[in-house]
Amino acid sequence: MPQGEAGNHIVEMLEIQGGRVLEGAVQVSGSKNGALPILFASILAEAPVTIRNVPGLSDIHHTLEILSELGLSVDTQSEFFGGDMTITIRAGEGIETTAPYEMVRQMRASICCLGPLLARKGRARVSLPGGCAIGDRPVDLHLKGLRALGAEIRIEHGYIEARADRLVGARMYLSGAFGPTVLGTQNVMMAAARAEGETIIEGAACEPEVICLARFLQALGVSVEGAGTHQIRIVGQPELGGTDFTVPPDRIEAGTYILTGAMAGGTVTVEGCDPGDLSSLFDVLERLQVPHEVGSDSVTVTGVPRLHPIDIATLPHPGFPTDFQAQLMALLTRIPGISILTEKVYPDRFMHVAELNRLGARIRKEGPTAIIEGGHRLSGADVMASDLRASASLVMAGLVAEGTTRVHRIYHLDRGYVRMEKKLRNLGAEIARKSEQSAS
Ligand code: EPU
Repeated sequence: MPQGEAGNHIVEMLEIQGGRVLEGAVQVSGSKNGALPILFASILAEAPVTIRNVPGLSDIHHTLEILSELGLSVDTQSEFFGGDMTITIRAGEGIETTAPYEMVRQMRASICCLGPLLARKGRARVSLPGGCAIGDRPVDLHLKGLRALGAEIRIEHGYIEARADRLVGARMYLSGAFGPTVLGTQNVMMAAARAEGETIIEGAACEPEVICLARFLQALGVSVEGAGTHQIRIVGQPELGGTDFTVPPDRIEAGTYILTGAMAGGTVTVEGCDPGDLSSLFDVLERLQVPHEVGSDSVTVTGVPRLHPIDIATLPHPGFPTDFQAQLMALLTRIPGISILTEKVYPDRFMHVAELNRLGARIRKEGPTAIIEGGHRLSGADVMASDLRASASLVMAGLVAEGTTRVHRIYHLDRGYVRMEKKLRNLGAEIARKSEQSAS
């Protein structure tokens, strides 16, 4: 791990000199949200699994630590925080079934060990993850789905205590007040993979990361149909084999650099992405009138001075993703006129608003809606990252703000972007990672 830690947080910041025009190509890493559930799903497999193109991120590092603590053997065949890795995991018989608070509190996706542990070991004790900077984030739908498969679940002393002598396939409906749940669908899919008989999940999430997990489970020998639609059918198997699997590109990282190119380009080509995952973003680019060209595995955008304001809401896939909301907001601050951005997945995911306003943006929040009066000059300042995508939006704003911007607490950024400052420097940005101590 890099030097300079406070607790588990790396005390580093990014210092950006704004105003450089970005030009060139940027390569997309493997998908964080694709890789995380797959790593947890390796608990299900009797034979070794090899997973390629895993991004070297702190969330991945943390997941591998959890798997090791649970007793799995984890072999990482490259330097960790540099690029994309190949990882081999062996889940023998001696697997622990408790994931304590210290493990789970650092990363909500840790809840994804619940389904696989229950399916493989017949019991699991997993700390409740709690809320985070983007909102409440309950897990009731995860538990509803596992109960439908026959698990007995109690909440005791902040822990989910789940038991099932055997899981039996069932039909269930998993959507909630804010739509389907991505990790909840994935948790239940993993449990159903070893349940007896057929499971049908109605109201399933259709995000590309759900399709990615379905492919992985298929590679382990499970029959999975309908992933990518709201109805997924799984026929469980008593024993699952191993596989060699490659994680697809990160659509959120790709979209972040596409929006950055639209904001600070020049002409920027985002390479090694899957444009098929980005339709709602292309629709937004068209409405904003950002010139862009879509290739088979690349997207080129050109920043132009005059774009058009829009009115848009985030929605579950195939709608415009909540994971682009903060980055789009940064871009909208540049566009003269009033834009309206409504958050329908995480209505409280607006921690970046106050920080963008510190840079000179004019954004007013009304309930789950941000009203952006764009076109005002941004000027560099010290700003605080609050969560992963909020951090990216602050870096984007810093790239076009006059003078120096320092984005503090970038451990949030390191959870989901492989060496963002290096990728941006290759495009011509003036951006450096510094330790907080050297700032004073
Ligand atoms: N929800 C419930 N009950 C549940 C689960 C979810 O009410 O049991 C609600 C949530 O509070 C939210 C909505 O349902 O309002 C959707 O949440 P979802 O469960 O889909 O989110 P998640 O699976 O916990 C994943 C990504 C997030 C991404 C969301 C939405 C991972 C590791 N995380 O979270 O990614 O924002 O789906 O697409 O895959 C990120 O990468 O920065 C990030 C936060």
